Amino acid sequence: MALLMVPLLPVQASVENPSLLPSPPMGFNNWARFECDLNETLFTETAQSMLSRGLLEAGYNRLNLDDCWMQHDRAANGSLQWDTTKFPNGIPWLANYAHELGFHLGIYEDAGNATCGGYPGSYQHEQQDADTFASWGIDYLKLDGCNVYAEDGRLLRDEYKYLYSEWHKILSDMSKPLIFSESAPAYFCTNETDWTRVMDWIPYNGELARHSDDILVYSGAGSAWESIMTNYGYQVQLVRYQQPGYYNDPDFLIPDHPGLTEDEKKSHFALWASFGAPLIISAYIPALPEEVITFLKNKDLIDVDQDELAQQAALVTRDFNFDVLTRSLTNGDRLLTVLNRGNSTATTTIPVTHLGLDSSCKYRARDLWTSTVKTIKDSVEVTLDTHATYVYRITPPRGCTKTTPTGMIFNTASGRCLTASSGKATFSSCDATDSQVWAVSGSGSKLTLSPLSDTSKCLASKDGSVLLVACDSGSGTSWSHFITGHLKSGSGDCLVDSVRASLRTCDQNVAGQIMGLPSGVQLATGAA
Ligand code: GLA
Repeated sequence: MALLMVPLLPVQASVENPSLLPSPPMGFNNWARFECDLNETLFTETAQSMLSRGLLEAGYNRLNLDDCWMQHDRAANGSLQWDTTKFPNGIPWLANYAHELGFHLGIYEDAGNATCGGYPGSYQHEQQDADTFASWGIDYLKLDGCNVYAEDGRLLRDEYKYLYSEWHKILSDMSKPLIFSESAPAYFCTNETDWTRVMDWIPYNGELARHSDDILVYSGAGSAWESIMTNYGYQVQLVRYQQPGYYNDPDFLIPDHPGLTEDEKKSHFALWASFGAPLIISAYIPALPEEVITFLKNKDLIDVDQDELAQQAALVTRDFNFDVLTRSLTNGDRLLTVLNRGNSTATTTIPVTHLGLDSSCKYRARDLWTSTVKTIKDSVEVTLDTHATYVYRITPPRGCTKTTPTGMIFNTASGRCLTASSGKATFSSCDATDSQVWAVSGSGSKLTLSPLSDTSKCLASKDGSVLLVACDSGSGTSWSHFITGHLKSGSGDCLVDSVRASLRTCDQNVAGQIMGLPSGVQLATGAA
């Protein structure tokens, strides 16, 4: 009997195959709470607690081992070996234990010669280690980037690209590809152009990426809130990279960190959910107070986090107190997230036009912390204690469902905002005025950018200058935005952050050309 030959096609990962990870991962990782002090009991106790306290049911279905799970030496055949004191029953046993309860088990390795904790790295053992993990029942790999050195004359950033895309190929070719968490960008976040050039290939090679500093560990010195705000600050620069199948990862939730107030813990969760970010808890879950478990299980916020559109909330405005963010959700609702970064209670009013909505409509707004619903027209007023966050889910009535990507256009390197100013544009400190809120219409290479301070005007390139002209004048008002962050005018040059906004030859290595735009803007394909 002739056998039907079915060719084995490589399974593509991440954005090319969003079904691999259609929504950001949720679960537990030991690192920020316990660092190297992990063992089997911590994981079995945590699993039981997540089950009995309803976290598994709420969606937290991953148990991820971090560094220090292994022995310092590989076996004679080159295989990695678990630490038999920490894991007396072995990792395959733990994977089986996790699976029987309804969890996945994830693991940690490093693309270089050694992990950050000094254990054997996977360099030149890539296929062998991937096979080992799969044979143990692991389905998620966080691949760190300590101890990577450039080879064959490559730039360091190209070495990371080489190693992580090799891993991507190996994982994609497996019958059940492991979820791939890429830590490469975190090694470049102090240099805006290197960081961005690394980010450019990340969504095509894995499902999530740690892009910035480590969130402050439990025993660490310093301010946990500042650490959260640092990673938040990196995350808001990366809106354009996120799409179904790939998620920017600003690192763990740390809801038992002794340095955080209740409001700060809740803000951390609400902001990460607004971003559609991974929700990986690094805390001692059995001892978390019930009120913390309750907010971590907030279904409305988890629904936002897991929304299939996978948009990341982007900055609408920023001033010395408040950050206002918005994004769209699959059912046509708009999200409004407001964070009081200031040090005292304060009030702000957000016009619905800032959210890309029509001010002649009335909207239903649901407060996702209290579940109270109110009707809003024109604007929403919020009063927030220091470091607290409001999240509203805004539902348009029939006939008012059109939304326009709206918000800040800013140079991600300097943080300065594109500002409309009598016939021209400048880059200035962000101050939340309408001259810094831009409605972005159109798609691809036909974006038009109009400030809310004068919606009859559009940003235009004219004779090498950046001007504001009547939108219907029709000339020079088309722009395109690229994954690289470039905002290119119809004339072929790119917007650049100088005191007066200007145009220069598009260049991949000029940080002043890397722009953040509202979420929902359709990117142009190819390179600027
Ligand atoms: C790096 C990572 C952390 C953790 C440690 C382990 O610092 O960023 O998340 O994995 O390594 O050594």
